[in-house]
Amino acid sequence: MALPDTSVPIEVLALVARLVEERAGLHYAGENLTIFAEKAASRAEEVGFASLLDYYYFLRYDPDGGAELDALVNALVVHETYFFREEAPLRVAVRDIIAPIVRGGGRARVWCAACATGEEPLTLAVMLADEKLLDGVEIVASDVSGRALARAQGGVFWRRSLRALPLDAARWITVEGDRGAVRPDLVASVRWAQVNLVDAPSVAALGAFDVILCRNVLIYFSDATVRSVVATLAGALRPGGRLVVGVSESLLRFGTLLRCEERGGSFFYAKDAP
Ligand SMILES: C[S@@+](CC[C@H](N)C(=O)[O-])C[C@H]1O[C@@H](n2cnc3c(N)ncnc32)[C@H](O)[C@@H]1O
Repeated sequence: MALPDTSVPIEVLALVARLVEERAGLHYAGENLTIFAEKAASRAEEVGFASLLDYYYFLRYDPDGGAELDALVNALVVHETYFFREEAPLRVAVRDIIAPIVRGGGRARVWCAACATGEEPLTLAVMLADEKLLDGVEIVASDVSGRALARAQGGVFWRRSLRALPLDAARWITVEGDRGAVRPDLVASVRWAQVNLVDAPSVAALGAFDVILCRNVLIYFSDATVRSVVATLAGALRPGGRLVVGVSESLLRFGTLLRCEERGGSFFYAKDAP
């Protein structure tokens, strides 16, 4: 393991990193370990520990260690996202997968599995509302970070989130200066939940979905964790359901049982009916 540029002992760092990986799947190696060292040391100092080793003992053995580990995960996760990010697969999912279910009289279920501060599920809600499909769809949006979900439910977003807004966005978001407020009925159309993707029972409790969006989060996991999370997500798909990952992410090298298909220039992983 390469020694990062930090005064934190590498052995202790590895112990804390392993706790974080066990808890939330986040894998730190190489250059990322330096960022991890800085964030972990700063969190340890913030909550009053003189050394990272003391902090590790607390995380590992104190009855309140689990809650602090969650707080550390919250401090580590990257919530980078914005409205209409990678919109093409969303439009194809609405047109080819969701619309046929709803127009055929069914109710579609869609899960945004690492929704960060909510821009992705709200983009989907806007697209569905435009197609008069929203009433026929249950959107569940989840993230491991309670802090991110609280921001999502607040419905107010800042400049970075607004960088790709379409010209006609005033129908659903009121932008004033640096901030935009999304129509409350759209925020309320999403069911928000705190779910850790490496916690298979919590995922199973959500039920089965026609579409699962799990975008730009698998990049933070090791290959072993990706395999296990994808297997969990496959279990949460209805027969005929589709998993969507980020445009720069591919599952092909993992040999998943899901079938990769290209639709309208976007890639989907399909769970074929038995
Ligand atoms: C870069 S954001 C992606 C947001 C959105 N899906 C997108 O593509 O714009 C990654 C999100 O994954 C979440 N995350 C990281 N590990 C997770 C886990 N084990 N379970 C659920 N969410 C997790 C982070 O909290 C963060 O909000």
